[in-house]
Amino acid sequence: MSIYQGGLVAALLAVAISLTCLSSHAEAQGLAVGYYTNSCPTVETIIYNSMWDSYTRDPTTAPGVLRLAFHDCFVRGCDASVLLDGVDSEKAAAVNVNLHGFDAIDAAKTAVEDACPGTVSCADILQYAARDSVLLTGGEGWDVSGGRRDGFTSSSADPPLELPLQTMTVPELLANFAAKNLNAAHMVALSGSHSIGVAHCQFIVDRLYNYPNSATGSDPSLPADLLEFLKTQCPDSAATPEINIDEVSPGTFDSQYFDNIIRNRGVIASDQHLMDHTSTQGEVAANNGPAFGGNFGRAMVVMARFNVLTGSAGQIRTNCRQVN
Ligand code: HEM
Repeated sequence: MSIYQGGLVAALLAVAISLTCLSSHAEAQGLAVGYYTNSCPTVETIIYNSMWDSYTRDPTTAPGVLRLAFHDCFVRGCDASVLLDGVDSEKAAAVNVNLHGFDAIDAAKTAVEDACPGTVSCADILQYAARDSVLLTGGEGWDVSGGRRDGFTSSSADPPLELPLQTMTVPELLANFAAKNLNAAHMVALSGSHSIGVAHCQFIVDRLYNYPNSATGSDPSLPADLLEFLKTQCPDSAATPEINIDEVSPGTFDSQYFDNIIRNRGVIASDQHLMDHTSTQGEVAANNGPAFGGNFGRAMVVMARFNVLTGSAGQIRTNCRQVN
């Protein structure tokens, strides 16, 4: 065997071993693409159709549901804890005050229960519906694994401890995402979710009036016209307008968000500051184009594996808002 052939065999072996490791990792977690092929073969179509109905009635459903999937996975893992009602549940945390899209998940769950009672978890429905939100707004899809089960617990004390804040520095954001097994490339691609949806003044005013170490009080990276627009919209944190996070194409899931922040036109402080750090700046440039769609899907797959309940852990809720 030539050296070249020997090297090729070794390389193929290495690929085979790593693929085996990857698949056994996924199997060990009990997650699989096509998990419901036998038990509920049309589940993904049912959820897509239901999401289409909800989205055509209210286009804000798409960003709402995508953000729900993120806030679910980052707090106690992807276990549908964010969907549970209760005065002290995650929904009651201040950082979750504007979460929405719960009714779209309820509608999808009802449609799924009609076809396959007691079979599909709310945690899985949320991840399928997040993928569909991206598809419905013009983004690329990705294969979503099923097999998650629903948790029993949801506490308003958890979101502030687990979710990233718009006031965090890049090293703080990286540490927050690393704790969820997500690296800098994943974090920047996932931030591209801000290609759709809105932000409220309460999450913007820090940047306008109380920015740390700024003589003017505002974030010096803001261009004058954007600063003026945001100050007019948000005279204080109680002002209620909803500011498009992507000022150019707010309803379309595309890479425009990255182009905006390269031009210093990010609305959320933490988005703009991805340009401040070498480890994230290159990733912003890499996502400013057609590579974004694939990068985003791959990062969502990693996020959607975090701390999942599988096998006999947890339960399949009948109603996503309450434990059985
Ligand atoms: C990098 C850390 C992140 C920070 C600091 C952050 C922060 C924020 C803030 C402050 C808002 C506005 C919320 C409001 O006005 O109520 C927002 C909106 C949003 N975020 Fe993030 N986010 C981050 C990452 C993500 C990720 C990873 C996703 C999804 C995978 C995501 C999806 C969204 C979506 C879709 C919206 C718009 C929601 C709507 O229109 O209702 N964000 N984010």
